[in-house]
Amino acid sequence: MKFVRFIMKNAALASVPKHIDHFSKFSPSPLSMKQFLDFGSINACEKTSFVFLRQELPVRLSNIMKEINLLPDKLLTTPSVQTVQSWYIQSLMEILEFLDKNPDDYKVLGEFVDALVTIRNRHNDVVPTMAEGIIEYKEVFPQDLMTNQNIQYFLDRFYMSRISIRMLINQHTLIFDGTLNPVHPNTIGSIDPHCQVGDVVQDAFNSAKMLCEQYYLRSPDLILQEICVKEKKNYPISIEYVPSHLYHMLFELFKNAMRATIETHDDSNNLPPIKVMVSLGDEDMSIKVSDKGGGVPFRRIENLFSYMYSTAPAPHIGERTRPPLAGFGYGLPISRLYAKYFQGDLQLYSMEGHGTDAVIYLKALSTDSIERLPVYNKTALKNYKVSQEADDWCIPSKEPLDLSIYKMPK
Ligand SMILES: Nc1ncnc2c1ncn2[C@@H]1O[C@H](COP(=O)(O)OP(=O)(O)OP(=O)(O)O)[C@@H](O)[C@H]1O
Ligand SMILES: [Mg+2]
Repeated sequence: MKFVRFIMKNAALASVPKHIDHFSKFSPSPLSMKQFLDFGSINACEKTSFVFLRQELPVRLSNIMKEINLLPDKLLTTPSVQTVQSWYIQSLMEILEFLDKNPDDYKVLGEFVDALVTIRNRHNDVVPTMAEGIIEYKEVFPQDLMTNQNIQYFLDRFYMSRISIRMLINQHTLIFDGTLNPVHPNTIGSIDPHCQVGDVVQDAFNSAKMLCEQYYLRSPDLILQEICVKEKKNYPISIEYVPSHLYHMLFELFKNAMRATIETHDDSNNLPPIKVMVSLGDEDMSIKVSDKGGGVPFRRIENLFSYMYSTAPAPHIGERTRPPLAGFGYGLPISRLYAKYFQGDLQLYSMEGHGTDAVIYLKALSTDSIERLPVYNKTALKNYKVSQEADDWCIPSKEPLDLSIYKMPK
C-alpha cells in the first residue's frame, strides 16, 4: 500500500510542470473590494466560491511559480528557496485534486475548506524563509545591480501574489467555515465594511508602543487628527477595508517612527510625539504618520524599499520568537505592497535633520479598490532579461578634473 502511494505521489509530482504550464497561460482575475463584499453577503454561495477558487488558485500559483524559476540559479538553489518552492508545488497538487470533484457534494466542500486551511498554514513562514534565502545568497555572492533589480522585481510580485492568494483563502475559509467572528460579527470574511481608521491607528500604535517600551524602556506619544471633507457625514472616518492589512502597515510605520525618534533624542528627557493625520476625500483616504526622528537622506529613500537593504543587523536565522523593532528590513516594502494591493500606495517624504512623513494612500471607494495582481507574460519575462547597459547620464568622477591637459601651449 505504501509503495502504491509512493508511486502515485511521484506520478503526480512528475505532472506538476505540465499543470504549471497550463494554468500559467491564464491571467489571474482581479476582484474588487465591492465584489468581495457582495460575494460574501448577498450572494454568499459556497459552491460558486469553490468552483471559482479551484481554477483561480492554480492560476495565481502557477503564474508566480513560473517566475520563481527565473530567479538567478544561485538563489534558486539555496535550501530556503527550495523549501518555499516545494511548498508551492505541494499546495498546487492539493488544489488540483479538487478539479474533478463534485461541487454539489457537501463532503467535498468541507474537504476543500480543510485543504485551504492546511495550505494557508504551510505558507505561514514564506516571508522569513525567503528572506533567509536572500541572506544566504548575499553572504556568499557579490551583489551586482542587475541581480539586485531582478530580485527586487521578483519579490514585489511574489509577495503581492502571496497577499492575494491569502486574501482569497481567508475569504473562503472565514465565510464558509460556519462560524461567526465573535469579536467583529459584522465583518465579511476579513473585510470590515465599516473599518474605523482611527481605531486601527490606535491599536497599531499601542502594539508598537509595547514593543518599543520593552526595548527602550520609553516611547513617544500619539497625536491623532481626523479630517473629512464631507463634514460629519462620515465621522469618525471609516472605509470598507481589510483591517488586518491596515494594521500591518501602520504597525510597521509606528515601529520605524518610534525607533527613529528614540535614537535621535537619545539624551533628551522629552520625546517629540508621533502625529497621525487621517483624511477622507472623494477619491482617496490618506493617513500621514509624522515623526521628528531626524529623517533619512534623500539619496537613501529608494533603498529603504529594497529587500536587499536594512540598516538594522539581520536577525539570526531561526530566531523568530520575539518580533524585533527592526528586523529583515521588510517593514516598508511589504507595507507598500499591502497599500498597492487595493490600488493604493505608501510613500515616504523625509527631511534629513528633522523627521519623516510616511503617507498611506488608499481608495475611498470600494469600487476603486481592485486587486493589483502580477501576471506572467512576455513583458514580465523581458523584465528579467534586461541586460545592464551603459548609463546614459554622465557619472561624476570622484577625483577633481585635471585641467592642465586642456591648457593651450603658449
Ligand atoms: N521614520 C523613519 N525615520 C528614519 N529612518 C527610517 C524611518 N523609517 C524607516 N527608516 C529607515 O529605513 C530602514 C528600512 O525600514 P524597514 O521598516 O523597511 O526595515 P527595518 O525597520 O530595518 O526592519 P523591519 O521593519 O523589517 O523590522 C530602517 O532600517 C531605517 O533605517
Ligand atoms: Mg521597520
